[in-house]
Amino acid sequence: MTSDKQLPQTAIPKRVHVKTYGCQMNVYDSERMAEALSPLGYTTTDSATDADLVLINTCHIREKASEKLYSDLGRLRDMKAERADGDQVMIAVTGCVAQAEGDEIIRRAPDVDLVIGPQAYHRLPELISRRSKGEKAAFAPQFEPESKFQTLSTSRDVHGVSAFLTVQEGCDKFCAFCVVPYTRGAEYSRPAAQILEEAEGLASKGVRELTLLGQNVNAYRGDDNGTAVELASLIRRLAQTPGLARLRYTTSHPNDMSETLIEAHAEIDALMPYLHLPVQSGSDRILAAMNRKHTADDYLKVVDRLRKARPDLALSGDFIVGFPGETESDFEDTLSLIRTVSYASAFSFKYSRRPGTPAAGSARQVDEEIKTERLARLNALLEDQRQAFNRSKIGEIFPVLFEKPGRHEGQLIGRSPWLQAVWAEAPMRLLGQLANVRITGVGPNSLTGTVETVEGAKL
Ligand code: 5AD
Ligand code: SF4
Repeated sequence: MTSDKQLPQTAIPKRVHVKTYGCQMNVYDSERMAEALSPLGYTTTDSATDADLVLINTCHIREKASEKLYSDLGRLRDMKAERADGDQVMIAVTGCVAQAEGDEIIRRAPDVDLVIGPQAYHRLPELISRRSKGEKAAFAPQFEPESKFQTLSTSRDVHGVSAFLTVQEGCDKFCAFCVVPYTRGAEYSRPAAQILEEAEGLASKGVRELTLLGQNVNAYRGDDNGTAVELASLIRRLAQTPGLARLRYTTSHPNDMSETLIEAHAEIDALMPYLHLPVQSGSDRILAAMNRKHTADDYLKVVDRLRKARPDLALSGDFIVGFPGETESDFEDTLSLIRTVSYASAFSFKYSRRPGTPAAGSARQVDEEIKTERLARLNALLEDQRQAFNRSKIGEIFPVLFEKPGRHEGQLIGRSPWLQAVWAEAPMRLLGQLANVRITGVGPNSLTGTVETVEGAKL
């Protein structure tokens, strides 16, 4: 509680502009915040310049992501100065930077009205109302995931074919580079009934594909009438929801890839054959220093078991180059693991020193130029693999879920089972439908094809 700025009593903001940084969970959280504000009369606007409330949902995972907040706040300060009603615009900072640097935000940016951590955003309506009555700027850093999910309605305001659904939050793994255990708190799994209710509501509004989210989603252990159920049983239950055709989950830790979850990949048709399974490094020495608690070989064994269960499974991964102490030989171990697995897609990052994490204090930091050079080599290999994976689909026929109109008249764009974008000539009525598409071409970021059959019927 620092700023003593008073907002006029008459300021009743009604348009909210939400800017989202970071992961899919932040996308989900932003949607939920907008939904929580709607009973108070807020509608969303794409532009900050006509908003009464600007909400910046932040990411703290790497330094670059964090820095964006302060440049945004600078721009908002100018915007408020230029607008006649600028003093009535409210600014809320939410998400992981809010959690990690709340006091500092209020100190550095006295214009900010509310700073709310990712587990406390259900209190947004109450905090806004208190602030507009003239209370001081508030910093709400509480970890209260249970009360958050109980407060938020399970009825969602979604439009579209594909939706995210958070089933688990937080992380107990404490990888030495990562801020998540500090910004999102301890692992928490939502009760199964709450998730099923939210999923049914989404399906009844036309959602056909659900991506279950969690920082450690495969560590899910949610209460189901007094017993703890694993992610595999939750997926089995969700697969029976009328209307839902596709299920995905992200992000997973290799150590939580249980036998029952691997079996689920063999047995549940709705579970898509595409898995994001980060390994971070292929060097056992670095994996140990990262506190990953698995070796490269442990990871490869999990991949083998998954591929035995579901032979068409494609993998995606996260990689960090230049973790403290990483030598050229460690880095080559990462390249070698990548060659063994062959990824359909991947995210790769230069190690970023995050305050408060164990690795930040290491004296063996890697030079920036070396990180840049390693990242380029890593990306070249991953890009070759991505293109090879895309090319391997030419001539195949598989179901595409059409999500939106394409750039050209008469075209729709959808997703393959492996999350590739697929373009095809198709009538609008196929939006939200699954169609079997024969792949005829491959572009840099998408596939093209022709529709053969539509969910049981001829076109
Ligand atoms: N530096 C670089 N990348 C990081 N990640 C997490 N923390 C850091 C960091 N300090 C990456 C990991 C993780 C992904 C979400 O972000 O690869 O899987
Ligand atoms: Fe971060 Fe590791 Fe937890 Fe993933 S498993 S969120 S990388 S600490």
